Amino acid sequence: MVCQCTLNTLAYFALSYIVYRFVWALYTIVYPYLIASPPDLHKLAGGKWAVVTGSTDGIGKAYAFELAKNGFNLLLISRTQSKLDATKEEIKKEHKNVEVETISYDFSDANLNDYKKEVLPAIEKRDVGILVNNVGLSYDYPEILHKVDGGLQHLANVGIVNILPTSILTAAVLPQMVQRNNGVIVNISSSAAYAKMSLWAVYSASKAYVNHFANILRNEYAHTGITIQTICPMMVSTKMSKARVSFFAPNTTNYVRSAIRTIGVIPETTGCIQHQIQSMIFGLPELVLDLLITKNSQAVRAAALRKREKAAKAQ
Ligand SMILES: NC(=O)c1ccc[n+]([C@@H]2O[C@H](COP(=O)([O-])OP(=O)(O)OC[C@H]3O[C@@H](n4cnc5c(N)ncnc54)[C@H](OP(=O)(O)O)[C@@H]3O)[C@@H](O)[C@H]2O)c1
Ligand SMILES: *[C@@H]1O[C@H](CO)[C@@H](O)[C@H](O)[C@H]1NC(C)=O
Ligand SMILES: *[C@@H]1O[C@H](CO)[C@@H](O)[C@H](O)[C@H]1NC(C)=O
Repeated sequence: MVCQCTLNTLAYFALSYIVYRFVWALYTIVYPYLIASPPDLHKLAGGKWAVVTGSTDGIGKAYAFELAKNGFNLLLISRTQSKLDATKEEIKKEHKNVEVETISYDFSDANLNDYKKEVLPAIEKRDVGILVNNVGLSYDYPEILHKVDGGLQHLANVGIVNILPTSILTAAVLPQMVQRNNGVIVNISSSAAYAKMSLWAVYSASKAYVNHFANILRNEYAHTGITIQTICPMMVSTKMSKARVSFFAPNTTNYVRSAIRTIGVIPETTGCIQHQIQSMIFGLPELVLDLLITKNSQAVRAAALRKREKAAKAQ
């Protein structure tokens, strides 16, 4: 027989757990976005250069602008040279005193020899204070694995682009950061990493890799002065998300301005207060969460397929 006191103890444990979860959630919303004052980025970074991948559009471009505003020189690495040139010109127009260098590299190229030839020397010869691992690839629309648009090639690309550049570039800047005992590494993951996202299998799993890896690194480099942060956005209005600007889908400027203020304040966050509030849904019981996400993915897929059918008919 279970005595009354055991039941009471268990109830107190359960209650403290609920209170703990609630207070923690409140803390992650209030502290980084409303209370903490952002630390001096240059002090955390220790180097004059910032490297941003996938920096000609969306979130990466906004990081490049915001870091230039903070006085960092930029090494922009992205796929299309013409877009790199245009971005460089735009940044130089607003921030005359920063240097901007560009490298065009297609990150679906997993060949290490190409990295060594085209990307790594430029990083190794500069004092890199900040690395923003932003480049990422998603699906065109949610779909079950064997029907994903673009087939096996696209699945391969999503896996490679979301995992490899982050791993290799991080490993390439760490030697100088360890030596200086400072530096900032920001990994742009996704809140898709938090849950088992039906119809987004490779995307969600590859983003979970990023979070898991960053958590381990934070332990490995805990005794150093290096700041390692993972940013997990919900919806930001960009080409990739195809979302229109709204309260919960901020534009990239406002989103990144908020996210940058949390560097050195919190090791993992969604990037803005709206998203942090939204992310409370990930605290729901897994059964309910899975159901909600699956329903949502299916609705997005149905809408995308309807749109395609309409476009095909119009031709
Ligand atoms: N937007 C959201 O709501 C959202 C939500 C969660 C997570 N994220 C994550 O945030 C990051 C940025 O997303 P975004 O929405 O800003 O994307 P985006 O607007 O589509 O911009 C992607 C950038 O990456 C570059 N790029 C794409 N494929 C590349 C490749 N194979 N090699 C080199 N560069 C490549 C693009 O250059 P080109 O123009 O030359 O292709 C562009 O500069 C991604 O990691 C994404 O997973 C976004
Ligand atoms: C980010 O994730 C990658 C794996 O995708 C890992 O190699 C890298 O060390 C991580 N860096 C940080 C700062 O989280
Ligand atoms: C985002 O909105 C702000 C105003 O809230 C504006 O100043 C900024 O230019 C916008 N950025 C983009 C990329 O549209």
